[in-house]
Amino acid sequence: MSGFFVVFEGGDGVGKTTQIDRLAQAMRGDREVVVTREPGGTPLGQQLRQAIMHGDHVAPRAEALLYAADRAHHIATKVRPALERGAVVVQDRYIDSSIVYQGGARGLGEEVERISTWGTEGLLPDLTVLLDMEPGEGRLDRELDRVERETGEYKALIRQAFLDLARREPERYVVIDAAQSIDAVAGHVREAVNVALGAKGLPGVAGGNLAVEPWGTP
Ligand code: TMP
Repeated sequence: MSGFFVVFEGGDGVGKTTQIDRLAQAMRGDREVVVTREPGGTPLGQQLRQAIMHGDHVAPRAEALLYAADRAHHIATKVRPALERGAVVVQDRYIDSSIVYQGGARGLGEEVERISTWGTEGLLPDLTVLLDMEPGEGRLDRELDRVERETGEYKALIRQAFLDLARREPERYVVIDAAQSIDAVAGHVREAVNVALGAKGLPGVAGGNLAVEPWGTP
């Protein structure tokens, strides 16, 4: 496939949307850039997103299958065709979110990855950008109550699970400290994307000249 597939991952509120917008803007010009997300990147996916997030309680295995169904349809009808016509696809969340949230946090284990791999016929990103941030770092000046502590522990668990995935496949991941300024993060993202574009023999993005290790900071 002649296109380029970059995915952004990370906990909620780390700035994925802002950075996706910045990267897409920087890459637009003489190439087609498709910005998309999971769940909800297609009309069917929007219905599935609604069902998962805005309905009644969904049984954990059903929830995992709904994410996988959204993904299978999204990849088959939107992402693969875009990559086949040579476009850049910039995507908010992918299989790693299911591994972390359904497989890890919900305790459903390794089957979750297998279901998504089957659903997507094994499509992997050229690059996964993990925006990493210490949960709630320096934002509270009082003792946390039980719910807040549990929420903080949950976020720390999610963060660690993403970092573990990044360590497992350093050649496909870049980890970027998302607590930096928006401009600094955007610069690191561009630099990592340029390395990955170069590895595929594709032209780079202008404006990214900050040095970054291929696997990022921490
Ligand atoms: P977002 O669109 O704001 O990132 O919200 C998506 C939410 O869905 C987020 O809390 C993470 C969650 N999610 C999963 O639990 N599993 C998945 O496979 C995906 C793609 C998202």
